[in-house]
Amino acid sequence: MKPKILVTRQLPEAGLNQLRAYFDVTLNPADQTLEKGELLDQIKGKDALLCLLTDTIDQSIIEAGNRLKVISNYAVGYNNIDVKAATQRNIPVCITPGILTEATADLTWALILAVTRKIVAADQFTRNGLFHGWSPTLFLGSDLTDKTLGIVGMGRIGAAVAKRAKGFGMKVIYTARSPKEIPDARYVSLDELLTEADIISLHTPLTAETHHLITQEQFNQMKPTAYLINTTRGPVVDERDLITALKNHRIAGAGLDVYENEPLLTPGLSSLDNVVLLPHIGSATVETRTKMAVIAAENAIRVLQGEKPHALANPEVYNGTV
Ligand code: DGY
Repeated sequence: MKPKILVTRQLPEAGLNQLRAYFDVTLNPADQTLEKGELLDQIKGKDALLCLLTDTIDQSIIEAGNRLKVISNYAVGYNNIDVKAATQRNIPVCITPGILTEATADLTWALILAVTRKIVAADQFTRNGLFHGWSPTLFLGSDLTDKTLGIVGMGRIGAAVAKRAKGFGMKVIYTARSPKEIPDARYVSLDELLTEADIISLHTPLTAETHHLITQEQFNQMKPTAYLINTTRGPVVDERDLITALKNHRIAGAGLDVYENEPLLTPGLSSLDNVVLLPHIGSATVETRTKMAVIAAENAIRVLQGEKPHALANPEVYNGTV
């Protein structure tokens, strides 16, 4: 008899095919998140869970998974999972880092360019038939060359964003827990970064320490010409304070792919014209999402076969330190 897996939402076929070859697959057929009650019910008797960042896998779900041996998250971030509760039951929580680095770095640059050059408004203007000829003052944005990019969190994605900055002739400064070997980038404190950077791009994971890392106090330190870019997790920024900073032109603009109460937007955000809003599509390329599905499937299979998965949020379950 095949082991049983619950897959909480439709995934690229390449990953599902791998799962079907090894598991008896229960797949949520609807393209929407399962309700908590459905999750509690469907996790029972399953050996494995393949879930998404939109699924809250709390202690009650983990406890309901009476046969659960692995949780494979289709994401690099894992703030949606109670990792402590999983670790207590010796359940590996697997993630998909590395694969989505380049796609997310590209999207970060798409947001930087979109907000500094007013791309979205200019597109709407053109579509609406308002373009009546070249004008010296039409949609003036700001240069990137010789400006300073400030990266908060120098993990894989932060480093990939820094690498691209060279092509735009920008200086790079960054802050992280400790200095890293990043070519042509200067390590600074968060305070220095906030006051010096023209573009501030967030790449830190969401943890208790980074929750509301950027609030009114930090906006007050930024240049009035600065732009904030967030492609990591919404709650790193206090969204109400961001709205106030954008409304009062305390900063020049923002580019967001993630939101504090995703998928809800804090009232007032969508009516601002100095922000570009995307629906959490950092890793959304066919190639990247396919690779993520394959790695997430392999992670689940490997654990059940007694092998180590590609990457773990709780490596201590293998180090015997639990
Ligand atoms: C992740 O993997 O954590 C991203 O936010 C989804 O692409």
